[in-house]
Amino acid sequence: MAFRLSLTSTPNFQISTPKHPRQLPLPLLGFQLKCCSNSISRSKAGAVHAVQQEQEVLQSPASDSNSVPSSSSKLVLVVGGTGGVGQLVVASLLDRNIKSRLLLRDTEKATALFGEHDQETLQVFKGDTRNPEDLDPSIFEGVTHVICCTGTTAFPSKRWSGDNTPEKVDWEGVRNLVSALPRSLKRIVLVSSVGVTKFNELPWSVMNLFGVLKYKKMGEDVLCNSGLPFTIIRPGRLTDGPYTSYDLNTLLKATAGQRRAVLIGQGDTLVGEVSRLVVAEACIQALDIECTEGKIFEVNSVEGEGPGSDQQKWRELFKAAQAQ
Ligand SMILES: NC(=O)c1ccc[n+]([C@@H]2O[C@H](COP(=O)([O-])OP(=O)(O)OC[C@H]3O[C@@H](n4cnc5c(N)ncnc54)[C@H](OP(=O)(O)O)[C@@H]3O)[C@@H](O)[C@H]2O)c1
Repeated sequence: MAFRLSLTSTPNFQISTPKHPRQLPLPLLGFQLKCCSNSISRSKAGAVHAVQQEQEVLQSPASDSNSVPSSSSKLVLVVGGTGGVGQLVVASLLDRNIKSRLLLRDTEKATALFGEHDQETLQVFKGDTRNPEDLDPSIFEGVTHVICCTGTTAFPSKRWSGDNTPEKVDWEGVRNLVSALPRSLKRIVLVSSVGVTKFNELPWSVMNLFGVLKYKKMGEDVLCNSGLPFTIIRPGRLTDGPYTSYDLNTLLKATAGQRRAVLIGQGDTLVGEVSRLVVAEACIQALDIECTEGKIFEVNSVEGEGPGSDQQKWRELFKAAQAQ
């Protein structure tokens, strides 16, 4: 069975008045996340490890002790929540009843994607990471964790319009965000890319023609030197999505097909593909797994059963990658 996300309706919450002018209420939507998991087998190849699993249905944390527990004390800021990985992160946080806040350039996209929620569930702030003045301290008030999955295309495209280039997003935007974050933060997870340490070597130099890997590495470096508790996730080539032109009903039908087994490496040697669903899950898991703090991991997914949202299995994967 593939990663499967299915939608169920939830009762309406009362919508409260936004505390800050840029903070917007969203329409409500509830859903249930389903995917697969079980027995473990490890690849001996390099620093890469896979978890093979049997099928299982992952339900809300209340009914599945293996899922990441919901935490009322957690407030997760997602930056890039309208993107391919970001959408899946937000959907999954909502499913886990983890309070979330979005920082978006276009707040209307959040309404279209995630529906309406009360302020206790999902808050939306407007901001562009390229503009330090957009990153007002009120956006970070009470935030305990951050997942940053911003990005743009590696090659010139419509998405570069208004100078939204890799230099501006992956380097300056990440630098601005890191500078604005409160020192009290418990964890920031940054989505980067495999190949960032080898941008001058073929084949990476082709991907890096407009600097995307170089600037991602500069973004990583600023985070590593920030003193903040960080985890960097470097995905391989992304598959499954982005679902950016869909609403959440469609998004939640996303599957990782047969590619559910997870490979995690260190040292930028891993080459391959990874489902966006797996990347989103890796980011959420890293928030709570202590041994990922201050570490960088490459992530791929291949055919086979995967860890689903089982925290213990993810912990073993991250630990095994470090043991090499
Ligand atoms: N594609 C690949 O094969 C691949 C491989 C390895 C790593 N990656 C990296 O993985 C990450 C996730 O990729 P993805 O394809 O899922 O992402 P994506 O769909 O390209 O989404 C990027 C997100 O970043 C936001 N964003 C862009 N510029 C911004 C700015 N100036 N201020 C604030 N937000 C901004 C976008 O918001 P808007 O809606 O406002 O545009 C969108 O939410 C990216 O960092 C990407 O570079 C991709």
